Amino acid sequence: MPEFKRYLVTSALPYANGPVHIGHLAGVYIPSDIYVRYLRLKEKDVISVCGSDEHGVPITLKAKKEGVSPQEIVDRYHNIIKKSFEDFGIAFDIYSRTSNKIHYETASGFFKKLYDAGKFIEKTTEQYYDTQGNQFLADRYIKGTCPKCGYEEAYGDQCEKCGSALSPTDLINPKSTISGAELSLKETKHWYLPLDKHEPFLRKWILEDHKEWKPNVYGQCKSWLDNGLQPRAVSRDLDWGVPVPVENAEGKVLYVWFDAPIGYISATKELTPEWEKYWKSKDTKLVHFIGKDNIVFHCIIFPAMLKAEGSYILPDNVPANAFLNLENDKISTSKNWAVWLHEYLEDFKDKQDVLRYVLTANAPETKDNNFTWKNFQERNNGELVAILGNFVNRTLVLTKKYYDKKIPLPDKISENDKNILEKILKTKKDIEENIKVYKFRDALRAYMNLARVGNKYLADEEPWKQIKTNPDRVKTIMYVASQLTAALTILGEPFLPFTSKKLRKMINLPDAKWEDVDLGITKPGHKINEPELLFEKIEDKEIEYQINKLLKTKEDNKKETVELKPIKEMISFDDFQKLDIRVATIIDAEKVPKTKKLLKLTLDTGIDKRIVVSGIAEFYKPEEIIGKQVQVLVNLAPRKLKGIESQGMILMAEDSEGKLCFVSPEEKIETGSMIS
Ligand code: MF3
Ligand code: ZN
Repeated sequence: MPEFKRYLVTSALPYANGPVHIGHLAGVYIPSDIYVRYLRLKEKDVISVCGSDEHGVPITLKAKKEGVSPQEIVDRYHNIIKKSFEDFGIAFDIYSRTSNKIHYETASGFFKKLYDAGKFIEKTTEQYYDTQGNQFLADRYIKGTCPKCGYEEAYGDQCEKCGSALSPTDLINPKSTISGAELSLKETKHWYLPLDKHEPFLRKWILEDHKEWKPNVYGQCKSWLDNGLQPRAVSRDLDWGVPVPVENAEGKVLYVWFDAPIGYISATKELTPEWEKYWKSKDTKLVHFIGKDNIVFHCIIFPAMLKAEGSYILPDNVPANAFLNLENDKISTSKNWAVWLHEYLEDFKDKQDVLRYVLTANAPETKDNNFTWKNFQERNNGELVAILGNFVNRTLVLTKKYYDKKIPLPDKISENDKNILEKILKTKKDIEENIKVYKFRDALRAYMNLARVGNKYLADEEPWKQIKTNPDRVKTIMYVASQLTAALTILGEPFLPFTSKKLRKMINLPDAKWEDVDLGITKPGHKINEPELLFEKIEDKEIEYQINKLLKTKEDNKKETVELKPIKEMISFDDFQKLDIRVATIIDAEKVPKTKKLLKLTLDTGIDKRIVVSGIAEFYKPEEIIGKQVQVLVNLAPRKLKGIESQGMILMAEDSEGKLCFVSPEEKIETGSMIS
């Protein structure tokens, strides 16, 4: 194991096509923040970089949807994201963006260096082209079935289900996401990174040297490597992105997954003139915090780029998390199925730590996990308020009341007191060991257990009763309780920074560091400040408000998702003339026995009376529709349904929820009128 002198921590650059939500926080930004805050508290040399990912199809698609320029989209969301991270206390040293000059220079320079060194292959191939939209269909402009796992919504560059990196031509049943046009093929030239050539190196580096990576990360890498790597295009025919910096490359930009990770480097450059110390010394520990859909890019493609360039270090670890669901449904930016960070911060003022706590306690570290508002409330009321808040508050309030805010000199320390005090060191060690291996849930659990120990200690010892009969004993109890409180103040900083800050003030330990945590942090005589409440109960009505907001989203989505099917094949006027559609009147209706959906209707078509069986029983009762005028296709070949011959078909309209509605004449008209 090499000794690391400094740490470089990156967090996946969020696409600036929407605000940040709880899924991003739980998967990437909270874990990285815990890690970084811990290292800072240990006085390590650490920098944490992030920024907005402003290129690629996610951005241009959003711009197109709104009818504005991509620049407008990225400006809007970059600002929202940046501010919400700040307000939430994600303590990046820099939050940059990939549309700025330094990034363009860095990304172009990187490409150029590989290009000049002959590290790319230039290939002209046939790619899918949308003749209606006049553009090549790469990345998210094209969807289809993943050849690896069968997921039907895989993108042209990646399957988000199994994480595989794909090319548009790998997709089964590819479809354009921007028009219903047939796909055609057209030749185009691109630059490819020959991943196959890097395969032997990657195999050794990951499979032999990094066996300690999380099983999900290691396993995915192994399976890709075992399947064999292919050369991968790193340029695109798009008009939004970093232009390919070589001759004869008009209209071509760098693939977003080529430029975005370089954003980590540009952000570091922007932060410090010493950026090379972080990126190019073997004694820097580089850690990438990402979500599971980013594994292939951070473990295979970016390392291959860095290796090909030659002067950079590679990540020591890539602790990727799984996904967080919201109320049992997949979080989705486009469906607005999310708890948006900027909205949370408005609805729950000064409650950053509650969300940090809940998302860490439920972090999707080993598998997908679920967030529910009920659980959010339970964890706040039952854990933060009832355990941590209660213990700390009792300790501080009693210290104020009995000892005029001075930590008392303990009397005899019993065996039990000693055990309790020793839990401080044990907890510190537990937290430390878990954070080192990126197990933040377990680290937080260890932390909360210390609060539990304290809470139970006070409940068992009941100093408020003993104060009359045994004041000396109470001195010891309160001494012990304040040591626990001080430990909770400092050890909690990585997880609950706002709470820790308040506590530091109350217990008057403004500068204490991780290593100051021991058995006697606050000495007898140490003066504390005025105690205040740390957490407050979250009421049912606040939770109901949030749940209703989500219900409304569900409703809105239903309205919007009338599935607009593509227009059917062209027909001639003669074809249309073949249909004989008339206005008929329903003169009788009854349910078809033993069926749920079918009604047997007797129709007056003007020329005859006939039976039509129609699948509308779920929506209409027989007695409601007698006398109604409807449209009937009268020359449809008869067919038998449940033994009844149906002689024609009623024309119905279907809404987004599958409900069928009659398409009746607006005013009564003669039965038998032709519709044409
Ligand atoms: N924008 C990407 C996403 O949200 C992540 C980019 S990470 C970087 O999935 F490495 F490319 F920066
Ligand atoms: Zn797949």
